[in-house]
Amino acid sequence: MISCTASAPGKCILVGEHAVVYGTKAIVTALNLRAFSSIEIISDKIIDIEAIDFQLQKKFPFIKETMLDKKFLPLKPIVNCCQIMINKFKLNKGMKLKIRSAIPSSAGLGSSAAVSVATVKAIESVFELNLTNDEISQIAFEVEKIVHTRPSGIDNFICTHGGCIQYSKKEQIKKIELPKNFSLIICNSEIPRNTGVLVEKVAKLHNKFPNITEKIFDAINLLSIKALESLKKGDLVELGEIFNLNQGLLEALGVSTAILSKFINIAKENGAYGAKLTGAGGGGCIIAISPSSKQKNIVEALKKIGGVPILTEFSQDGVKVEDLK
Ligand code: PMV
Repeated sequence: MISCTASAPGKCILVGEHAVVYGTKAIVTALNLRAFSSIEIISDKIIDIEAIDFQLQKKFPFIKETMLDKKFLPLKPIVNCCQIMINKFKLNKGMKLKIRSAIPSSAGLGSSAAVSVATVKAIESVFELNLTNDEISQIAFEVEKIVHTRPSGIDNFICTHGGCIQYSKKEQIKKIELPKNFSLIICNSEIPRNTGVLVEKVAKLHNKFPNITEKIFDAINLLSIKALESLKKGDLVELGEIFNLNQGLLEALGVSTAILSKFINIAKENGAYGAKLTGAGGGGCIIAISPSSKQKNIVEALKKIGGVPILTEFSQDGVKVEDLK
């Protein structure tokens, strides 16, 4: 093989972000927005990366860790991915990569994990390494650790395996079948945020008030357990109430913002059963669950206050090879 394109889905956390870093359960689903990584083997021992959406192109050294200029920070997960693969599997050929993604970046929808997972898959396919999906997810997790300092592993897991799951760092992962009537509004505030910074903010609160924050994490864990039951029953009203409770707890952890609260309130005023931020918070997206008859109104109301609705569906597909030559 000399070239390969692989893709991986974005994700949306329904319940349980932040607490999941401390070992509790969370519910997450893959989206049918995908990131694509195309790789070609080249003779020069370099890593040549072009990120089409960021209009960035740069050549990096083959093995050495590289300090990145601020401008090239969006390339960090990709460079790390390549260097980890080169070191781990003693690869001795250079690579040229082209990355494009339909997942909005810095929005809490797993764009960096999806790019890492797609890149690991593309490299492993072209070098015929025969890695399992669990191994691919684990390598993407190593990249996430460099980029976000203390990730729970939820993003790399869902971007690799797809579907909808109840995830926990400690326990068996449970697959979930989403009810037929389940459609979600996802709306982007387009305020970029940094997952690592928000996870550290919660860590500081946890250091200062360990007993109190652990009660919050426990409550979020119970919400994830309850949400699994609501999804099994197809009870969207109850799921909406769970979203509202989860949002209250995320506010207590200090990761919501005035704009996200405004979006959430507008969604509820226009008929949503419930709404919450999704992902790390501090900006990015909110999600709302509503009767289908109210969806149009909610989307219009969110647009009026500057929200950008994301039109997507859930996806069973995890990482896959699109093209191999
Ligand atoms: O905002 P995102 O897509 O990076 O989601 C992060 C989810 C957190 O729970 C806040 C962090 C994690 O690693 O689980």
